[in-house]
Amino acid sequence: MSLHVSRVIISASQKGGSGKSTLLANLAVEAAKDSSPGEVALIDGDPQGTLDRWYGLRPTEDIQGYRMLFEDLLRGIDQLKTQKKIKYIFVDTSAANTQSINQILKIADLVIIPAKASKADVWSASKTANLLKEQNIPFTFVLNMVKPRVRATDGAESALSFLGAVAKTRIGDRSIYADSLGLGLSGPEADTHSVCVNEMFALWKEVKVYLSRHNRVAA
Ligand SMILES: Nc1ncnc2c1ncn2[C@@H]1O[C@H](COP(=O)(O)OP(=O)(O)OP(=O)(O)O)[C@@H](O)[C@H]1O
Ligand SMILES: [Mg+2]
Repeated sequence: MSLHVSRVIISASQKGGSGKSTLLANLAVEAAKDSSPGEVALIDGDPQGTLDRWYGLRPTEDIQGYRMLFEDLLRGIDQLKTQKKIKYIFVDTSAANTQSINQILKIADLVIIPAKASKADVWSASKTANLLKEQNIPFTFVLNMVKPRVRATDGAESALSFLGAVAKTRIGDRSIYADSLGLGLSGPEADTHSVCVNEMFALWKEVKVYLSRHNRVAA
């Protein structure tokens, strides 16, 4: 008999505007496509309320959306975990106060750290990564807003790979990600012919493989 366990996927980075909310929303949609109704929850834990607004615009109810104050996050995640149906809980966090969100990050099955291919992003991502490493919190970097044929991307990837896992899937710099967020959609939902369809599918597949290999609860 296997025990029910919800997997918690948190986006975090001290760097503002690195793509935390965008990647998380897109991954939550991929998870929902891959799940039965009611199995995916999304918590907006950032006072900016980006994903709360996004969720409010969403034309479908395939994802259960919540907005929580920082101080309520731990309890809120715990409560969602008791709902037997929920398979995936996605949590968006703010750029500020990464030290203080430590206690939230500790319960993550996977922390996604988006990083652009720039020195500033790599430095900032490495700070977040070191914090997670100190506590054995599983994480992966995701190169985001990647421009085609820019050599700095390979340099950033190799710098990040010294610090931890880097997702094989790179997320391109595509206006569809920005445009779709304002419509309550993911990139792939807004343009089914875009290259973003394959890349987001591939990133979700990587996340899923990671989660299946690192199951905290023994069957
Ligand atoms: N892959 C991408 N291609 C193009 N634009 C993107 C991509 N990812 C994110 N963006 C855009 O970059 C901006 C910042 O993204 P987002 O809000 O997701 O970052 P964030 O890390 O959540 O920011 P904050 O730290 O303020 O919460 C937004 O305008 C978003 O639409
Ligand atoms: Mg955000």
